[in-house]
Amino acid sequence: MEIKGFGVEEWLNQNEKKAQFDISQSTISSLTLGELLEFEDQNPSELFTKYLDTKLNYGWIEGSPEFKRLVAELYQHVTPENILQTNGATGGNFLALFSLLNPGDHIISLYPSYQQLYDLPKSLGVKVDQWQIREDLNWQPDITQLEELISPKTKMICLNNAQNPTGSLLSKPLLKQVVSLAKKVGAYVLADEVYQPVDKIDQFPNIVDLYEKGISVNSLSKTYSVPGLRIGWVATRSHALADVFRKYRDYTMISGGVVNDSLACLVLKNRHKILKRNAELVQRNHKILKEWVAAQEKLEIIMPEQVSTACVKIKLKINDEVFCQRLLAQTGVLLVPGSRFEMPGHARIGYCTDTLTLKMGLQKLGEFLAECD
Ligand SMILES: Cc1ncc(COP(=O)(O)O)c(C=O)c1O
Repeated sequence: MEIKGFGVEEWLNQNEKKAQFDISQSTISSLTLGELLEFEDQNPSELFTKYLDTKLNYGWIEGSPEFKRLVAELYQHVTPENILQTNGATGGNFLALFSLLNPGDHIISLYPSYQQLYDLPKSLGVKVDQWQIREDLNWQPDITQLEELISPKTKMICLNNAQNPTGSLLSKPLLKQVVSLAKKVGAYVLADEVYQPVDKIDQFPNIVDLYEKGISVNSLSKTYSVPGLRIGWVATRSHALADVFRKYRDYTMISGGVVNDSLACLVLKNRHKILKRNAELVQRNHKILKEWVAAQEKLEIIMPEQVSTACVKIKLKINDEVFCQRLLAQTGVLLVPGSRFEMPGHARIGYCTDTLTLKMGLQKLGEFLAECD
């Protein structure tokens, strides 16, 4: 099975530990364990005492009943038995794609977006058509292109909502149009929803709530600030589909681990407090980014929604990869070259790091840009 290298992951693996001002990442500034326990008002020693007596066995295979209940509460039409815990959203996407797609199938993926959603299916022998996001449409796709691409052979439509790296959001009316097209041909709609906007999360249109063949994939890695727990999930409305996922899951994952599961429950129980902290951070950094880019002649931006990733256009002749390499070598500032997302001439700015790092990173980036022609 041939597969293309994962552009953004390869870049980060090579460069993130070299960065002094890392403004490339897509998580809202990660929480420490101490900060998490403060949300719970729990004394750390109580938690550690509990863990001293916790057997490090496999734990609950599909995720604990508490985890599944807390995740199901995030949706309108999903019951706990149709939630399966996965190794992050990457594990969730993999599970859904691997379980449902066969060589020769046809799918349509929002493009560019998260590379896993098109290059993994390609490696499984699936024919993948690209539903393009367009800069001239403020990074939205055009529904008429989807109408042209879809056919009775289409088995799945893959979305990334909000989209990495632009931070653009697919609206509920647009999603309803997607669902209506999918329904006509009986296609699944898989949505990777890790970048839910912090300011509108309770009105977020989860695909599984809009469509009986919708599959929502999410995790605690981005909007919930704990990527190190490696906990995600797949949510479906159908028992039969959840059973298909169970079957394949047994071959790829046993459990998420007892400690990670219990910490994931803590995160979910305290989600409103975490989201409040994150909404403040995103709002503050969003304003800093917007004002800073407005003063830059050599950059342009379509501002993201209140999600943790943004994409700038570099208005210079230099190749974006060379630009980012030089920037890192000369200033210690890390971005992700747009080419890593099939978006040459652009770069991802992960502006939801701590505010001081963002300010320092932007200042250094500004100095570097002043030297470029
Ligand atoms: C769209 C998207 N999905 C999934 C992931 C990975 O999520 P997780 O850490 O939950 O595996 C990323 C990380 O960059 C992402 O951008």
